[in-house]
Amino acid sequence: MKKVAVFTSGGDAPGMNACIRAVVRGGIYHGLEMYGIRRGYNGMISNDIFPLDSRSVSNIVQRGGTILKSARSKEFMTPEGRKKAYENLMSRGIEGLIAIGGNGTFTGAEVFYNEYELPTVGCPGTIDNDLYGTDYTIGFDTAVNTSLEAIDKIRDTADSHDRVFFIEVMGRDSGYIAIQSGIGGGAEIVMVPETHTPLKKVVSALKDGWSRSKSSSIVVVAEGDEEGKAPEIAEKIKSKVGDKLDIRVTTLGHIQRGGIPTAYDRILASRLGLGAIEGLIDGQKNVMAGIVNNNLVFTPFIDTIKKPKPIHDDLLRMVHILSI
Ligand code: F6P
Repeated sequence: MKKVAVFTSGGDAPGMNACIRAVVRGGIYHGLEMYGIRRGYNGMISNDIFPLDSRSVSNIVQRGGTILKSARSKEFMTPEGRKKAYENLMSRGIEGLIAIGGNGTFTGAEVFYNEYELPTVGCPGTIDNDLYGTDYTIGFDTAVNTSLEAIDKIRDTADSHDRVFFIEVMGRDSGYIAIQSGIGGGAEIVMVPETHTPLKKVVSALKDGWSRSKSSSIVVVAEGDEEGKAPEIAEKIKSKVGDKLDIRVTTLGHIQRGGIPTAYDRILASRLGLGAIEGLIDGQKNVMAGIVNNNLVFTPFIDTIKKPKPIHDDLLRMVHILSI
């Protein structure tokens, strides 16, 4: 293998740049010619492919976002789009790919590999931490810390005004950000898509808190919770408790996707980037590099997206016990 291209795709995540750097420098160290593709699969289709050298990735280990830009490609979902992408890669002599992204990225990579058998290794880059085959994904730690900082600030004002806040964090299908920032921020209730929290339970937990002289309560809601988004849930709770509780809602949104990656994310991204390129050189294909129990492992794309990665029940139990 001589020429390898790297790209980022799907929602960006802090630490993606550190991962790109590790892939590019790792590849060059092992004698490869490295290429970057802009805007993920869209760039493959539009032929936005360009050479990268060691200096192209200087001074990015600490930067949020992705220097390669990112996109969610509709065209790549079509056989015609993938054919165009393959032809562009072939015209450059690209013999291997490193895909940095989440479940949408790996769904595309799996389909593409099955059609064209171009060796591809993935790096888990998503704030959601919802990929099987790695304990943590790149960007998750930074996103949790960003949410936590916001929750701490909201707690100050909630406490001053004796209020209940519903705080919505990201996680379309996953409650990892919610549970971790909820525990870290001392939330009274955490609502996640993995486990149904009936509104009855929310009401009684909030009332109990008040009867125990709590001066504020925080409910962290993952955006994918089955009861709805935070504003909707807050409205339903208001209709059940009337004026008894003074309720406010904050949606944290994309602030969670940006910012300087934490030390943990930079190191994780560097390990995974180097692990992925060395894995590709060693013949790994159609797999994602992950870190499980501090060891580098490779998991088939299909498992990373299909196998569940449940939130431990103990964590939800802990939220309840520690907020009495
Ligand atoms: O997958 C990462 C993520 O941030 C999810 O938590 C969220 O649901 C989604 O991306 C938002 O995507 P977009 O930025 O395309 O609206």
